[in-house]
Amino acid sequence: MVIRLALPNCIIRSWQPADAGAIVRHANDRRIWLNLRDRFPHPYTPTDADRWIRDATSAPPETQFAIAVGGEAAGGIGLELRSDVCRGSAEIGYWLGAAYWGRGIATEAVRAVTAYGFSRLGLRRIFAGVFEWNPSSMRVLEKAGYSLEGRLRQAVLKDGRVLDAFLYAIVRDSGPEGPRAG
Ligand SMILES: CC(C)(COP(=O)(O)OP(=O)(O)OC[C@H]1O[C@@H](n2cnc3c(N)ncnc32)[C@H](O)[C@@H]1OP(=O)(O)O)[C@@H](O)C(=O)NCCC(=O)NCCS
Repeated sequence: MVIRLALPNCIIRSWQPADAGAIVRHANDRRIWLNLRDRFPHPYTPTDADRWIRDATSAPPETQFAIAVGGEAAGGIGLELRSDVCRGSAEIGYWLGAAYWGRGIATEAVRAVTAYGFSRLGLRRIFAGVFEWNPSSMRVLEKAGYSLEGRLRQAVLKDGRVLDAFLYAIVRDSGPEGPRAG
């Protein structure tokens, strides 16, 4: 299944083999790596990009997408589905090339992929863990309707530093009064 969500400032779409060069250009950036898990490569090589595109497009349902801006893949966004008693939950993750920061693109992408997760993947809950030094990502989640659920003390070891993580989440059935009872 090919996904394509056309938004005012970007398109959320399936990864394509031809995206490899653009991924390397935008993802090979320490400022991005510093805010993601260590499995996000740094430096980011063409081999990493090829492997990423192959993995992202191999197994349905498709849950990892490119954020395309101006005709090229400028970032990525995806949902990692949880299992067992946490089925129906997913962790959202995203990054955007620094050339495009500050234009509302990540917020637009998070809103759209959250809606996709609820309506098309049947998710009940979507969450994200943000490192304490990343206020812009916290702001993105707040603008997209996520709530701060807690501060996970010393949850992260990144770049040799122990950091707190901020847990943000949104649930499908929450209205203005909060989650439905029962
Ligand atoms: C986080 C990231 C995705 C944001 O992308 P973006 O497209 O610039 O985000 P948006 O423009 O939608 O929103 C950014 C918001 O953060 C705000 N912001 C930026 N720097 C900030 C700072 N130092 N302190 C507080 N707010 C800040 C912006 O003003 C904006 O809020 P506003 O619309 O209220 O003014 C991008 O910086 C990125 O890829 N970072 C590296 C990877 C990453 O952090 N991924 C998320 C891991 S949880």
